[in-house]
Amino acid sequence: MKRLFISIALSLAVLSPARADEGMWLPVLISQRIADMQAKGCRLTAEDIYSVNKASLKDAIVLFGSGCTGEIISDQGLLFTNHHCGYSFIQKHSNVEHDYLKDGFWAMGRDEELPNPGLTVSFLERMEDVTDIILEGITEEVEPAERDSLVKVRSAKLVSEASAKGKGLSARVEALYYGNQYFLFVYKIYRDIRLVGAPPSSIGKFGGDTDNWMWPRHTGDFSIFRIYAGKDNEPAEYSKDNVPFRPKKSLRISLAGVSDGDFTFVYGCPGTTREYVLSDEVRYVSEVSDPAKIALRTQRLAIQKKYMSQDQAVRIKYSSKQANVANAWKKWQGESKGIRKMNTVAGKQEYEARFDEWAGGTGYEGLTRKMHRLYSEREPFFLAYEYYNETVRAIEILNFASAIHSRLRNKDAKDGYAGAFFKDYYQPIDEEIFTAMMEGFGEGVSKGLLPNYYTDKLQEYGSVEAWKKDLFSKSLFTDRDKVLALGPDDKAIVETDPAYEMFDAFRKWFETYIKPVVDRLNKEINLANRQYMKGQMEFNKEKVFYPDANLTLRVAYGHVEGYSPADGAWYKPVSTLKGIIEKDNPDIFDYDIPQKLRDLYAKGGLDGQPVCFLATNHTTGGNSGSPVLNADGDLIGINFDRVWEGTMSDYVFDPEVCRNVSLDVRYLLFNISRIGNASYLFKEMKFTGGSIKKYR
Ligand code: ARG
Ligand code: ASP
Repeated sequence: MKRLFISIALSLAVLSPARADEGMWLPVLISQRIADMQAKGCRLTAEDIYSVNKASLKDAIVLFGSGCTGEIISDQGLLFTNHHCGYSFIQKHSNVEHDYLKDGFWAMGRDEELPNPGLTVSFLERMEDVTDIILEGITEEVEPAERDSLVKVRSAKLVSEASAKGKGLSARVEALYYGNQYFLFVYKIYRDIRLVGAPPSSIGKFGGDTDNWMWPRHTGDFSIFRIYAGKDNEPAEYSKDNVPFRPKKSLRISLAGVSDGDFTFVYGCPGTTREYVLSDEVRYVSEVSDPAKIALRTQRLAIQKKYMSQDQAVRIKYSSKQANVANAWKKWQGESKGIRKMNTVAGKQEYEARFDEWAGGTGYEGLTRKMHRLYSEREPFFLAYEYYNETVRAIEILNFASAIHSRLRNKDAKDGYAGAFFKDYYQPIDEEIFTAMMEGFGEGVSKGLLPNYYTDKLQEYGSVEAWKKDLFSKSLFTDRDKVLALGPDDKAIVETDPAYEMFDAFRKWFETYIKPVVDRLNKEINLANRQYMKGQMEFNKEKVFYPDANLTLRVAYGHVEGYSPADGAWYKPVSTLKGIIEKDNPDIFDYDIPQKLRDLYAKGGLDGQPVCFLATNHTTGGNSGSPVLNADGDLIGINFDRVWEGTMSDYVFDPEVCRNVSLDVRYLLFNISRIGNASYLFKEMKFTGGSIKKYR
């Protein structure tokens, strides 16, 4: 009986997927995970996912710009990414005559595709473990500075050798596990990337900041680009003679959709995670840094909102600025709440105590004590560093004065910059933000570190309010004509302006007293983290440690699953067009859908049209635009967000609530055809699991 029970338990353990889907794995080492992936439903081999000898899925994935992911979905270089990843490019093509942000954009043929200067996509040619080369002969006895410079010199050599091997190649050596391992990454970078299609923002950004980081979600967060190459298919600067790029691999699109429990994986470029750091860092983030920054941004957002709601023109001016401020603001709230709920700081402290006990008598003895010291030494300086970024850099007129100063010699650049600045500037907002931010600065930065300039000004004026009034009444940077009238020789005028003077004083303080200390301590913390990481791997031999994210290509796998956001509630993993119609409200900007969508819906039959879905894949910023693939490696969705309750996953992953949010690729297809009337694009795509006829 007992034996029978054990064998049942064993077979259940094999059959039912393990709960935890934490981890962002290096594709080159995916053979170490493939058995687990297959046990959870994957039908691919390691070679299908990553190979340097034959075309593999990795050849269809790109780093899009410098912080998103994209995927190739046709043999003519067509690419999908998020709307929010293409946003700034769509915006640059927009003006009053054709507002592509508002109305969407659809090229009706190749000749209508729009070039985007400055936009690149990077293909990973290969990645290679170069630890032995980089660390050769470097023992624990080698001094940190010596170690550092050896690593730099050797990396530079590998990089230049690898980059010289072909057109458009660019290589990087990246530290993994805080410098216990080094990998060489060789990329091929394409520079002629054209916009093919984007939905109106009322679809691509549907739900706006209200729904951002949340479920249930109904955002059609996609945009479509095409990569162009020279006639030899190699990277080339923009030219109208360039031809569509012919990729080694493009993804098939599955029309079969997703169901609860289905295996999925995300293949993309996650930016930063900090899973193995000391409790000190997590405490600082959740108890000090996040709350301070949230409070400052709460004030900024309230000030912006007040004026935006009174005046349509102001709303347009500040919509993009507000979205940026709000995005991190909302994430930090979920993050600090999640860290607290998980009791991560106490959990880590308890783990550290066990580590210390184990470390007695080993080379790791005293390591955490040393690190506690470094963190506490850093804290007031790092907080001042963050305050500088959140307050001084939030006052538009100061940054503007500095930008004009550096463009003074080039009249066109200066005037262009000034034009763009004033187009989106509203002085009453900036004035109120000045007061709130400068008061916050004085309260948040520790007294001994406050710049003399700041304390002097407060003494001189008696209050921030009086200081602000004087600055705004005297500065020429509130006046467009005066800024345009500045010539290359007017340096003295700029440098004696109160806005420039203030910016300069704060910047000098930051660069003299704050940044160097933070940089030095960060370097020491990093070095200690290398040892701590190594120590943890020896201390905890059974655990599989995936390397923290660093914008290198990774695979995260999991399955479609809902979650419980709160006691008594369960969120289903799939949303549909019905939910868009339920949210639709012409009076609420974030929920005002295009009339065309209303009309289509009114004709009936669209209730079940899938829109977004949830899965347990471990993702972070940078994974936006990543393909979400099914067990056969076919495209089922495009990753674009996480749920609010799970945003602490950069520090600690909770399988109960950490979910990535993806656009169902079938809603993208629906949009191409029904909203964009661009179903001609279907001709170059490859579909499986159903017929595309339904979407034509
Ligand atoms: N939360 C998404 C990610 O962090 C960005 C969404 C952009 N949209 C917005 N409403 N701010 O990038
Ligand atoms: N929205 C994020 C991005 O842009 C993704 C995330 O943080 O989950 O990369």
